[in-house]
Amino acid sequence: MNLSNPSNPSNPSNPSNLSSLLAGRVALVTGAGGGIGRGIATRFAAAGAAVAVHCRTSDEGARDVVERIEGSGGRAVVLRGDLTVEDDCRRVVLEAAEWGGGRLDALVNNAGVQPVQELAGMTVADWRAVVDTNLLGVFACTQAAAEVMRGQEGGGSVTHIASIEAARPAPGHAHYCAAKAAVVMHARSAALEYGPYGIRVNTVSPGLVDREGLADDWPDGVRRWQQAVPVRRLGRPEDIGDACVFLASPLASWVSGHDLVVDGGDVGASHVVKTTVKPFAGAVSGASGSSVRIREPKSPEDGEGTWADYGAKGAMTDEPREANSQASAEG
Ligand SMILES: NC(=O)c1ccc[n+]([C@@H]2O[C@H](COP(=O)([O-])OP(=O)(O)OC[C@H]3O[C@@H](n4cnc5c(N)ncnc54)[C@H](OP(=O)(O)O)[C@@H]3O)[C@@H](O)[C@H]2O)c1
Repeated sequence: MNLSNPSNPSNPSNPSNLSSLLAGRVALVTGAGGGIGRGIATRFAAAGAAVAVHCRTSDEGARDVVERIEGSGGRAVVLRGDLTVEDDCRRVVLEAAEWGGGRLDALVNNAGVQPVQELAGMTVADWRAVVDTNLLGVFACTQAAAEVMRGQEGGGSVTHIASIEAARPAPGHAHYCAAKAAVVMHARSAALEYGPYGIRVNTVSPGLVDREGLADDWPDGVRRWQQAVPVRRLGRPEDIGDACVFLASPLASWVSGHDLVVDGGDVGASHVVKTTVKPFAGAVSGASGSSVRIREPKSPEDGEGTWADYGAKGAMTDEPREANSQASAEG
């Protein structure tokens, strides 16, 4: 049986299977008027969920997402609010639950800001703007959602969108990295406290995700990323959406407090140690004792982090991390 064939009924990506994964569920996706949030909202709808599409200023984008979902036979609504304001967080969550007939099965805390600023010259107001959106909003929306979920049959699922920068610092992103690291730890703590009520809390940490105009604005950076990432492409909003659908679905009913890195293998690649492996005799015809393509460990002296045998010297350094920061500056 070929499970990779999308038309195979046992393949989870078979549309007929996906559309029943979250049937009857109600989801709220914050910051879903564009970018990654749009991909998350549309994948939840494709999985059968009714989706509350939150936005702050992107009314047009959010309406477009709703129209697309409704055009595919799904159910969606636009909700507005500034998630740096505690009352708005609570109101948006309660409106989603009211629209959902009293249920809220999944919350995806996606809204966030990613300005690039060096620490020298960063004001407390700059710091707060990033931390309030990326962290306070996550805390307050999750708290309000948990109150709804703990009283309903089946509990619920909360997924925060963190970042690979939660674990790997990037220059000009101290506030962002600190907030995203805190988001990961918030999820782990919340998973402990809410787990007994049937509420699972996880994070998804994306690598660089493509957006309209990115390749035109920054062709070198995109090319370097594509070369450095083992899967050889940037992320798509739907890649992040699919990870969130999985975590909200019964397939992940025993997954909580987990950080799911979705980055085409970039973080894993940065930990590869230079060595030479000797494959088992006969494992690869004629390959016995051949060297493999791997990156040396990083250190201050080893700023280049070369990909020794990759044949693209200079193209595989820290650039994915810089790429992320720069993309943020442009995004
Ligand atoms: N893009 C990447 O490569 C990448 C990588 C790793 C992690 N991430 C994370 O993924 C998430 C989505 O990023 P994105 O690239 O899709 O960015 P984006 O297109 O700028 O979307 C972020 C959304 O957050 C909303 N938002 C910002 N401030 C808000 C506030 N005070 N209240 C309510 N909503 C607010 C915005 O809503 P309005 O437009 O309606 O104002 C916006 O739609 C973020 O958490 C980001 O940190 C992105």
